[in-house]
Amino acid sequence: MAEAYLNYIGGRWMSAQSGDTFESHNPAHPSEVIGVFPRSAALDVAAAIAAAEEAHQAWRLVPAPHRGDVVLKASMIIESRKEELAVLMTREMGKVLAEARGDVQEAIDMGKYIAGEGRRFTGQTVPSELRDKFAMLIRDSIGVVGLITPWNFPLAIPSWKIFPALLCGNGIVFKPAEDTPAVATVFVRILEEAGVPPGVLNLVHGFGPEAGQPILEDPRVRMISFTGSSEVGRLVAEEAGKRLKRVSLELGGKNAILVMEDADVDLVVEGALWGGFGTSGQRCTASSRLIVHQGVANRVTEALLERVRALKVGDGLDANVQVGPVINREQLDRIHGYTEVGTKEGARLLAGGKILSANLDNGHFYSPTLFDRVEPTMRIAQEEIFGPTVGITSVTDFDHAIEVANGTQYGLSLAIYTKDIDRAFRAIRDLQSGLVYVNAPTIGAEIQLPFGGIKGTGNGHREAGFSAIEQFSELKSVYIDYSGKLQRAQIDV
Ligand code: UN1
Repeated sequence: MAEAYLNYIGGRWMSAQSGDTFESHNPAHPSEVIGVFPRSAALDVAAAIAAAEEAHQAWRLVPAPHRGDVVLKASMIIESRKEELAVLMTREMGKVLAEARGDVQEAIDMGKYIAGEGRRFTGQTVPSELRDKFAMLIRDSIGVVGLITPWNFPLAIPSWKIFPALLCGNGIVFKPAEDTPAVATVFVRILEEAGVPPGVLNLVHGFGPEAGQPILEDPRVRMISFTGSSEVGRLVAEEAGKRLKRVSLELGGKNAILVMEDADVDLVVEGALWGGFGTSGQRCTASSRLIVHQGVANRVTEALLERVRALKVGDGLDANVQVGPVINREQLDRIHGYTEVGTKEGARLLAGGKILSANLDNGHFYSPTLFDRVEPTMRIAQEEIFGPTVGITSVTDFDHAIEVANGTQYGLSLAIYTKDIDRAFRAIRDLQSGLVYVNAPTIGAEIQLPFGGIKGTGNGHREAGFSAIEQFSELKSVYIDYSGKLQRAQIDV
């Protein structure tokens, strides 16, 4: 029997008020049910918001260093249970075990980093233009925040949001992706064990239209942080905009690796393979485009093709497997749809392009797919596929490479391989993306630097790094006049 999981509202574990449920499945073996979860709706969300609103009042007054202690304790518990969490993640989401361990590690790193912020939580002091007057900036919580997270980083991305939201003293309503609810639940149990007071963190399982939408609509929720597709992100922004809610969006990407003619081809191939096919390409940072100088295009293509053909696809728990399943049937069909689109558009399919489920226990497997002769205007060069599909575009020179790299609606992660320091710096200056890599692929951001993108990738917010605190706190500018008389700013100076 699959385990029955619950919502967590006001410090109590409970079913959806309707009693409805849904299942989470192993994408490598879809008949294996990971768990049964409450299918929540507006009533459950309303209860979670009420609990968060009440608990927030006391939580914001707990000294920040102590809130940091709770975050630290949670990350230590995660560390002690790393292997168990990684295995559950591979079973529920499909990524290979080594990568699942990395996902868990990213949450541990985030927790340790944010815990330290409890002893900073810095404001500013600035001089006043008047005598005997003090001016300072302090931080406060925002209030109730709604956190809506995707399935591709089932622990890391919730940790980017929950840890800083807690540290800043907010009340939280957490709606994880319906494809990875078990990992999310274990995370919440750990936070409960670490000492998060009842009501401060509330977990509501379910689907976007039923359990996500009410979070967007409720005026008591003052801020929304969403990671997911640009399509849903636009909807989230509209709903938030109508109600003047603060909203932070982390959306799609169409990331590229630029390869100059002086690049180390072996290094490029390693990077392209990892960036393009790691996590079966299901990262918003995935290196789905290779923009290669025509002088090395044939060498890079041939060497990469050989490695792509040799990639082993299968259950991520098998240590020999390099590419796990994709998350569900719908995504599998979508990815295959892009292979058809690319072929019709005239790109050349060099490898893959096949649904492999029939041979692999009906799992949602797709063969690693490589196209070349991809024109920059083709849909496969413009749209996020979120699968193990990479397209190669050949360019005439450095400026052409930069132009093609910047020529999409997205701006998350771009990389350049070159040994020429001048070009590397020019690329750093001119690539239009929130993340830039030199001699490394577009994936693999570390939590100590802000993460996020420009253009269609988001709305200017960044997660992690110092921006994590910016994201989840309000600013309060405070003036203290100890002159004993009325002093008029801008007038009595
Ligand atoms: C994502 O794909 O949504 O930089 C996040 C990376 C990871 C995070 C990816 N650390 O690839």
